[in-house]
This record gives sequence, C-alpha cells and structure tokens, in this order.
Amino acid sequence: MTRDLILFGPPGAGKGTQGALLAERLGLLRLSTGDVLRDAVRRGTAMGREAQRYMDAGDLVPDDVIIGIVRDYLAGEAADTGVIFDGFPRTLPQAKRLDDLLEELNRPLQAVLVLEVESDVLIKRLSGRRSCAGCGATYNVYFDPPREEGLCDRCGAALSQRADDDPATVQRRLAVYAEQTEPLIVHYRKSDTDVHHIDGEQSVDHVQRELVELLEE
Ligand code: AP5
Repeated sequence: MTRDLILFGPPGAGKGTQGALLAERLGLLRLSTGDVLRDAVRRGTAMGREAQRYMDAGDLVPDDVIIGIVRDYLAGEAADTGVIFDGFPRTLPQAKRLDDLLEELNRPLQAVLVLEVESDVLIKRLSGRRSCAGCGATYNVYFDPPREEGLCDRCGAALSQRADDDPATVQRRLAVYAEQTEPLIVHYRKSDTDVHHIDGEQSVDHVQRELVELLEE
C-alpha cells in the first residue's frame, strides 16, 4: 500500500524544506508542482511558456495544467511509491480531482500536514531565500546563510533569487493563498483524512521532528 501525504501551507511556510527531508527519511517521493513548473519555464516548453505569466504575477496556473502534471506523475514514476504533495492541491477543483484520482488508483491519503507561519515571518523568509541552480540547495540570508555570500556550500555554483520572491509578487501570492488555498483545510476536515497543524515557526529540525512523530503515531 502506498502512503501519500499533502504538505500544506502558505508561500514560505517551509513545504519544500520539510518535504525534501521527509521524503528522504520516509523513502517517499516528493512532487512539488512549483518545481515542475519552474523546470518547464527554464526549458521553454509549451507548458512553461503558458505557466510563466501566471507565476510571474503570483497567480495560480490553470487547474488542467496542474492536474495533468499530477496524473502523469502518479501513472509513471510514483505508481508504486508514496508521494508527498508539496504545493498541490491549491484550489477546490484540484482537491476534488485528486480525491477522484487517488480513489481510482486505490491510494488512500494518509494525512494533510498544515505548516502554520505568520505573514511577517513568511515575508522575511521569502525575501531572504536564495537557491542554487546547480544542485537545487536552498539557503536563507537571514536564517540559513551560505558560508560564502552568493555561493552554494555544496557545489560552489552562484545562488539566485526566485523571480516571484519580489515584494509585490509575494503579497499577491499570500493573498491568493488566503483566498483560494486555505479554504481547502475545511474540505479535508470533512473527509476521513487526518489533518494536523504544525507550528512552522520552530527551527527546521524541530518542525521535522514533529512531522515524523505525528506520522509515526
Ligand atoms: P511553489 O513553488 O509551490 O511556491 P509556494 O507555495 O509559494 O511556496 P514556496 O516554494 O515559496 O515556499 P515553501 O513553503 O516551499 O518554503 P521553503 O521551504 O522554500 O509555487 C510557485 C508558483 O507556481 C505559484 O505561485 C503558482 O503560480 C504556481 N503553482 C505551483 N503549484 C501550483 C498549483 N498546484 N496550482 C496552481 N499553480 C501552482 O522555505 C522558504 C524559505 O524559508 C527558504 O529560504 C528556507 O530556507 C526558509 N525556511 C524554511 N523553513 C524554515 C524554518 N523553520 N526556519 C527558518 N527558515 C526557514
């Protein structure tokens, strides 16, 4: 039986950070729809060209594009392995399509893990985030700086800031989360799935420990 989880939370809550650690620890795959879209933008594919204008504005990419990504992933790479969904679902139609897809595939959702972080902390985290294009490592100039400014500790490549981490786009992303994504918590509360709320303002290690303990209960 596969073990699928949803990591839920506003932009900057730590979904990517925690998802990567959890996937390694539990032997699960992590599907970040944001990473898939950014890769498509970098490669200049038709999907990337369509997605870019929404992402640059801080808006959500159309549901059909996103559902296509998830369906293909569950039919391929993740057919026999549990998945941590990071940044998906983000709208009620996406959540309902995921419910149907998991039921068709006989993959019950194990839990929804909601990372809670206040807006002022989110804004600081996003403005301080730097990523390595070489190996994908993530840093934060305020909370987790690289040893040498602007360079990746692991591979030495230059670090860059995400295009949608500028202040105006961050405000828009936070508003879109509050309007379109946060209400999904009610959808999952009404289902049989366990919904856990975690204080995402603790240290990375502390949040990770709490997630693992919850899942091992
Ligand atoms: P996506 O890539 O999913 O971005 P997001 O949800 O806005 O989340 P982020 O990646 O910004 O933050 P995170 O929660 O992963 O935090 P992280 O761990 O990096 O989506 C981008 C765009 O793609 C969307 O706006 C949309 O256009 C499109 N998209 C994606 N999925 C979609 C979907 N399903 N439907 C429609 N459109 C979609 O951490 C942030 C920073 O904080 C880092 O610097 C990190 O080092 C630091 N940090 C993390 N944890 C801690 C901690 N505990 N203490 C201190 N610092 C910490």
